[in-house]
Amino acid sequence: MDKPYALLAELTYSCPLHCAYCSNPLQLDDYRDELSTEEWQRVFAEAADLGVLQLHLSGGEPLQRHDIVDLVQYANKLGLYTNLITSGLGLSARRAEQLREAGLDHVQLSIQADDPALSDQIAGTKSFERKQAVASLVKQLGWPLTLNVVLHRQNIDRIGGILDMAEAMKADRIELANTQYYGWAEPNRAELLPSREQLERAEVLVREARERLDGRMEIIYVIPDYYSQYPKPCMDGWASRHFTVVPNGEALPCPVAHEVARSLELPPATVREHSLAWIWEEAPLFQQFRGEAWMPDPCRSCERREIDFGGCRCQALALTGDASRTDPVCHLSPDHGLVEAAVAAANDPTRPQGGSLIPRPQMGRPRRQRTAA
Ligand code: SF4
Ligand code: FES
Repeated sequence: MDKPYALLAELTYSCPLHCAYCSNPLQLDDYRDELSTEEWQRVFAEAADLGVLQLHLSGGEPLQRHDIVDLVQYANKLGLYTNLITSGLGLSARRAEQLREAGLDHVQLSIQADDPALSDQIAGTKSFERKQAVASLVKQLGWPLTLNVVLHRQNIDRIGGILDMAEAMKADRIELANTQYYGWAEPNRAELLPSREQLERAEVLVREARERLDGRMEIIYVIPDYYSQYPKPCMDGWASRHFTVVPNGEALPCPVAHEVARSLELPPATVREHSLAWIWEEAPLFQQFRGEAWMPDPCRSCERREIDFGGCRCQALALTGDASRTDPVCHLSPDHGLVEAAVAAANDPTRPQGGSLIPRPQMGRPRRQRTAA
């Protein structure tokens, strides 16, 4: 069994934004009983003992935790590389300096578009100007800056402007990842999945920008897997290298595996009851799809099974109702017609224009957050 090298700590699902592509669970209020400062610190220490090197602090909006500086400082002392994944809202100059002093290594800033009105509309709140200010603060304080832009039908045509904006911000890296259909993105899929024409135009612009910005800005571009022949090697394989702990302490092999656990009626593995080492090695949810023994046909005899691990378990569940089926994105899957139908609908010239998105709602007030002594 491999050891995990990255821990995604989803500190809170509280968030000032309302993005319709959010992968957070639909039942946000089930996660209000958040781990305390001391509980998170114990999780970080156990992660470091297990061999984890990278700690991604995310949410929701991790800056909604008033103990974020203490958490970063603690993780830094453990020798973990700390990455803050943030909307930027809540990052004042003072807090940024405190985080710098606490040893935060890297900032990933989300932004929704290059056009202020569109960015604010997608975020469901006025945030564009603040994000610009945060980007320059990040650079001033000497952090490497990665911009995260989730792409979808409503902003992908702005990709040229988005790349220009990233260049003007002196971003070191930009991740242009098309939406994955989990959490709130799933019911919004019809309004988010781009057309083939949109993707073709975007790819030309990305290629040009890669040539122009070679050596200055790294551009990661991820197409929607619905348009691929084969699925993505999700999480590098189930419970293979990644660990996620969500705000109430449940540990998962990926950020959206709550649904897989529920569908299989597996008991939640929580850090309040078990050590990370026990969860990694023993928890039924982590064992369920590890390796190859669980694979059905056609994966079982397919030569790509060590490359993509049969695709994504959460996507198989979302599309077929059964997490153990071959990911329907794969053209060899008996369920591939489900993906073909979604792609056909996205490319239907008669489809109604301007449908509305369901915004991710605000979570209720979290119930447990204590400051470090
Ligand atoms: Fe991957 Fe399974 Fe498709 Fe083969 S059949 S390419 S292993 S998803
Ligand atoms: Fe959960 Fe792919 S997102 S396995």
